[in-house]
This record gives sequence, structure tokens and C-alpha cells, in this order.
Amino acid sequence: MTPSWTTRPETAADLAGIRDVNLGAFPTSEEADLVEALRADPTAWLPGLSWIALAPDGTIAGFALLTRCHVDDAPALALGPCAVLPRFQRQGAGAAAIAAALAAAREQGENLVLVLGHADYYPRFGFTPASGHGIRPPFDVPDDNMMALAFDPALPVPTGLIRYPAAFGV
Ligand SMILES: CC(C)(COP(=O)(O)OP(=O)(O)OC[C@H]1O[C@@H](n2cnc3c(N)ncnc32)[C@H](O)[C@@H]1OP(=O)(O)O)[C@@H](O)C(=O)NCCC(=O)NCCS
Repeated sequence: MTPSWTTRPETAADLAGIRDVNLGAFPTSEEADLVEALRADPTAWLPGLSWIALAPDGTIAGFALLTRCHVDDAPALALGPCAVLPRFQRQGAGAAAIAAALAAAREQGENLVLVLGHADYYPRFGFTPASGHGIRPPFDVPDDNMMALAFDPALPVPTGLIRYPAAFGV
């Protein structure tokens, strides 16, 4: 049976749980450390855009983060890391956290989100190849893995090179 997930933005009490989710989801501590470096960078971190999905017992099962990046000089958001504790994977926790983070970003007046990730996962949220918008990453990656989502298709989307926060190291 698929659990029902509760989503909310992170609070100070969630930081250890969020680290555990990233340590559990990825083979090294790189993503867990990245989240903490982003949280310490006021040019990257945006209040209210780090979201968690809680299992019915209160365990933090899923995590999705949006931070400030740019396309050339225009502000955009970078989605990631997205992570789910292995025992909760493929039960909707990731989708719940991502959908909630995207909805919050839209609510805050953001329009453009970029993600580097699985080409068969992110299109379900509306992401399409970033190249179709004239947006390119600062590294070599298969076209299908660098994706963009513009919430309001009526608004202009900036074109150019993605500039990530320093913590991403790219
Ligand atoms: C990717 C991840 C965040 C998805 O969250 P989730 O809660 O497991 O996924 P959801 O239940 O929302 O969606 C399920 C779908 O996710 C996709 N998916 C999950 N893991 C995947 C993987 N490693 N590769 C490709 N697709 C994956 C599948 O399409 C799956 O559909 P299926 O069950 O029909 O096969 C989670 O599996 C995870 O933490 N994986 C390890 C870390 C990682 O790869 N993070 C993303 C970096 S881009």
C-alpha cells in the first residue's frame, strides 16, 4: 500500500533528518554536504524552498531542494538534491516533496526551474530538455538530463548559460 505523505518546508529541527535522507539515498556524503553548504550560502538559500515528505510515523522520508541559480544574469532555481530514504523509494515520497517545493516556488513568484537528473523521472513534473529553451549547462551532459520547467509559458524564459551556486563546484 502506498503511504500518504505529509509535506512541509524544513525547520531547524529537521536538519539531522535531512542529512540522513541524503546519506541514505546517495553512495557518498557529497549530496548531504552540498545541502549544508547551500544552506550556509545566503546568495543561494531561499527560505521556504527546502521541502520534506514525512511518513505517517513522522520519519523524514523524502527531500527536495530549490536554490538560487542564474541563466546568464537572470535569476532561476536549481532543483536538487532530491532524495528519498531507500526503504521509502518508489512510493511517491520523492514526487510529493518535489511537487510541494515546485508549488511553493511558484507561489513565491518564481518562474524557471532547472534540474540535472533522470530523464525518465522529471518530465512528470513538466520538465523538458533545457536546450529547447536555449539554456545550456556549464558541463557536458546528455541533452535529456538537463531539464527546465517554466511555470507560466506566457512569460519570457531567459536563454544562456546556467550559473550554479558556488557550493555545486561547477
Ligand atoms: C530519484 C528519487 C528522488 C525518486 O523518489 P521516489 O520517491 O523514489 O520516486 P517516486 O515514488 O516519486 O516515483 C517513482 C518513480 O521514480 C523513478 N525513479 C526512482 N528512482 C529512479 C532511478 N534511480 N532512476 C530512474 N528513475 C527512478 C521511476 O520512474 C519510478 O517509477 P516506477 O516506480 O514506475 O519505476 C529517489 O528514488 C532517490 O532518492 N533515488 C536515489 C538518489 C537519486 O538518484 N536522486 C536524484 C538525483 S537526480
